[in-house]
Amino acid sequence: MSHTRPLALVTGASSGIGLELARVFAREGHDLVLVARREPELRALGDELKSRYGADSTVITADLALEGAARQLATEVADSDIEVLVNNAGLGNQGRFWETDLDADHRMLAVNVLALTELTKLLLPAMVARGSGRVLNVASTAGFQPGPFMATYYASKAYVISLTEALAEELTGTGVTATALCPGVVPTGFQAAAEMDPNTPLLKSPGSKSAEYVANAAYKGMVAGRRIVIPGVVNKIGAQAGRVTPRVVMTKVTRRLNPPA
Ligand SMILES: NC(=O)c1ccc[n+]([C@@H]2O[C@H](COP(=O)([O-])OP(=O)(O)OC[C@H]3O[C@@H](n4cnc5c(N)ncnc54)[C@H](OP(=O)(O)O)[C@@H]3O)[C@@H](O)[C@H]2O)c1
Repeated sequence: MSHTRPLALVTGASSGIGLELARVFAREGHDLVLVARREPELRALGDELKSRYGADSTVITADLALEGAARQLATEVADSDIEVLVNNAGLGNQGRFWETDLDADHRMLAVNVLALTELTKLLLPAMVARGSGRVLNVASTAGFQPGPFMATYYASKAYVISLTEALAEELTGTGVTATALCPGVVPTGFQAAAEMDPNTPLLKSPGSKSAEYVANAAYKGMVAGRRIVIPGVVNKIGAQAGRVTPRVVMTKVTRRLNPPA
């Protein structure tokens, strides 16, 4: 894998927030490793990043829900001096916990939790040894409270926030940073993939931001070494309000915002 600029690996770069993050990293002088299942989308993005920003991209197709896929990906890039690891690939799943498909939950946890953990664990040692590097984990404002009818998804994002904050503390003084990106609602392929009811009040949130806005906020916060980045004032206020509101109240509010179809 030949590259001349610092290398950023972005999982889930074929659409939505990951695609915009790849654009931002290319604009800011990085070469890219683009990872997802949909190869044509990744190749088209690679061509665009070359023509717009002169960035070189390596495309790696991988289904991160599969056992061993994250390990294989880490092996493929082991000699590449990854400067930035962006664990963005993720998915949701709406419905009553006892009615949603166990295999769907399994795939979600494999991508949102396990692949993120494995890639971070396997790529961090080289960053720490080098004394430079960044990990950007895409969590969600969903990680700040329980989420009835998307219970597994909200819990997966709580894990990402907790892991990243702990990691950031462990990394103090190493030259490596860890940042959890916590967007609110972002119109992307996520909502359809999660089979969310398009009329659910949550999707009309005043805190909704574009993927482009979120990606720019993420980059800025990551470069500043922030542990948590919450794009948009409304979402920042919401997250703070959640800290002083009893958890049971937050859970009931979330229920009302996102009832099952
Ligand atoms: N949209 C929102 O409202 C929102 C809010 C907060 C946080 N987030 C988080 O933002 C991240 C990006 O989501 P998005 O909103 O940009 O949704 P999206 O447009 O659906 O993008 C999801 C990305 O993840 C990849 N992905 C999904 N399953 C995968 C698998 N098994 N293996 C490899 N890649 C996989 C998809 O690529 P392929 O399909 O090509 O594999 C796609 O590139 C997720 O972690 C999500 O939880 C989203």
